[in-house]
Amino acid sequence: MKKIYRYEDNKEYWDRRWTEAGEDTDSFTNMDIYPIKYAEMVMEPGLLAAEIGCGLGRVIKHYNNQGYNIIGIERSEVAVEKINQTNPELDVQVGDVLKLPYSDNKIDILMAFGLLHNLENGIEDALAEISRVLKTGGKFCISMRPDNLEMAFNEVYWRWKKPKQADAQPRFHKLMVKEGEFAKMLAKIGLEVEQIHRSRNLSSLYRIPFLRSRSVEQGREEQRRSAGYQLNTAGRFLDNILTRMFPFHTANVIIFIGRDIS
Ligand SMILES: C[S@@+](CC[C@H](N)C(=O)[O-])C[C@H]1O[C@@H](n2cnc3c(N)ncnc32)[C@H](O)[C@@H]1O
Repeated sequence: MKKIYRYEDNKEYWDRRWTEAGEDTDSFTNMDIYPIKYAEMVMEPGLLAAEIGCGLGRVIKHYNNQGYNIIGIERSEVAVEKINQTNPELDVQVGDVLKLPYSDNKIDILMAFGLLHNLENGIEDALAEISRVLKTGGKFCISMRPDNLEMAFNEVYWRWKKPKQADAQPRFHKLMVKEGEFAKMLAKIGLEVEQIHRSRNLSSLYRIPFLRSRSVEQGREEQRRSAGYQLNTAGRFLDNILTRMFPFHTANVIIFIGRDIS
């Protein structure tokens, strides 16, 4: 596992992101994007689902809207307060994946999109906690950041965008993992991986302004979070070529789907 450092604390980073963002919409308008495309692979009506690290709640809002039974945990108080203001009916609590406020074997489906790579230490403890609350036979859908060229390019971009201040100290930002390495960690704790998908929530080509879809770019951030960070025709053409040629190195999320067999 590779640790990435920036010049902002991980918790401060998320609190700032969620302070700056508008509220998440109640539904995804494009079901073919990460993370909803992968949530669809595990969600089932009538079962109890939990999303840990739910951010502003776009996944929880979407499924609650459709009558699914879904609850959530999020470390950022800023994000939970925003959800509570717009959707007080949702069961979303401030909490930590390292100490989930659920009893053993309570949850049928557990989702964690972009959560576990925020842990500088204790990832195995977090997986043990996930396994504790997940029923035997329960489904999980967990995404991580891959250790590949796309992510390396992303860090170069951020260093260029936010140059180091004179007195800044490097602070932990995220983990990046190899697929096989993380699948083994899951298996060790009894979380058996059945599917691995490579995806991206944002193509690095989206960093190039003239390759972005005009209509999406002009809209608000929350629209991009429900419709996807879309490229224009030229951008999509280039992106298709790159993803076909380099499927491993163009992904920026890897999604692990499976069951708890412990
Ligand atoms: C990449 S965001 C994903 C948000 C949401 N799942 C989505 O797809 O919109 C990761 C979230 O995990 C939260 N987080 C980070 N560490 C956490 C922890 N130890 N326990 C619970 N949540 C945490 C962050 O505050 C952030 O909101």
